[in-house]
Amino acid sequence: MKVDGKHFRSIWRDGRTALAIDQRRLPHEFIVTRLTTCADAAEAIRTMLVRGAPLIGATAAYGMALAMRDDQSNEAIDRAYETLIVARPTAINLKWALEEMRRVLRPLPPSARIDAAYARADDIAEEDVVINQGIAQNGLALIEAIAAKKPGETVNVLTHCNAGWLATVDWGTATAPIYLAHDRSINVHVWVDETRPRNQGASLTAWELGHHGVPHTVIADNTGGHLMQHGKVDLAIVGTDRVAANGDVCNKIGTYLKALAAHDNGVPFYVALPSPTIDFSVSDGVTQIPIEQRSAEEVTHMTGRTADGRIETVRIVPEGSPAANYAFDVTPARLVTGLITERGVLGASRAALAAAFPERIAAAAE
Ligand code: MRU
Repeated sequence: MKVDGKHFRSIWRDGRTALAIDQRRLPHEFIVTRLTTCADAAEAIRTMLVRGAPLIGATAAYGMALAMRDDQSNEAIDRAYETLIVARPTAINLKWALEEMRRVLRPLPPSARIDAAYARADDIAEEDVVINQGIAQNGLALIEAIAAKKPGETVNVLTHCNAGWLATVDWGTATAPIYLAHDRSINVHVWVDETRPRNQGASLTAWELGHHGVPHTVIADNTGGHLMQHGKVDLAIVGTDRVAANGDVCNKIGTYLKALAAHDNGVPFYVALPSPTIDFSVSDGVTQIPIEQRSAEEVTHMTGRTADGRIETVRIVPEGSPAANYAFDVTPARLVTGLITERGVLGASRAALAAAFPERIAAAAE
């Protein structure tokens, strides 16, 4: 997607290193950082320099390639896997990408592993873009159907967190149909949940949409229910970090509340889902998906830009008050209207997922 008219991806290769946009600095500063070692890649994921499930996967793949550049032994593959897999716990794309890299590298002689690792990492990044273009096409049909029912009026989409191009390699998942609809001259407007505590909606989604010229309004997290009650949301589209085999959807904390409000108000609630985000080894998302708990400081403090241009962090909670920081929640499948995948819009059910992605079930059983 474009930043000030220039095309960027969230991560790309530069020789035997990788370059990534530092998402901790947006929207105030646009800084590109070089990842030179496997440890750099792990640290980038852990500190959320890169974030968003598909981008975490792509970064891990480059992390494995960086490790191979320095050491092509079996032990180096295992060490890189162990270093990267613990970087963040919830997004299954991390494990998917690492297992994919290991599957390709293990059978090869060490002398072939460097080129193969970079090639597979490039492919994983490229495949993400193609998947998201499929999601864009399939989600576009949903937006077009709503637009057809209200000619001349705006289609209002609510989204949570950042499931935009910054969270993937390009296009995004939840935002992909929105960008395509906008490019096809459909009047779309996006309600952007700010997404406390890290504000990925306010900082990243709003920044992306603004750069692409998509009309949007940032709202405090608790606003969605009110808007839905008053007919101001036509559909919600969110991303996901892991979808269980039964269709339960894990996404940024607060997604579940939006799904409940959507259900109560008859607002369609869609989840944009690239297939590497399905975890067929988890049969029940509510009880089995690990929920990341992050530093309390993300809740007790906020960072922003002062009027004179300085980036400052301030405390908003009284000294001594404990804070809890659950980063994700799980929306039960019964609250999900449909899963927008690269292979079509599916029901959020075991049967629909299994029928659409049989090869993933076979791989999970291995
Ligand atoms: O903690 P984050 O910023 O990595 O969480 C990101 C999300 O929850 C996204 O909605 C999800 O990864 C889908 S990204 C296409």
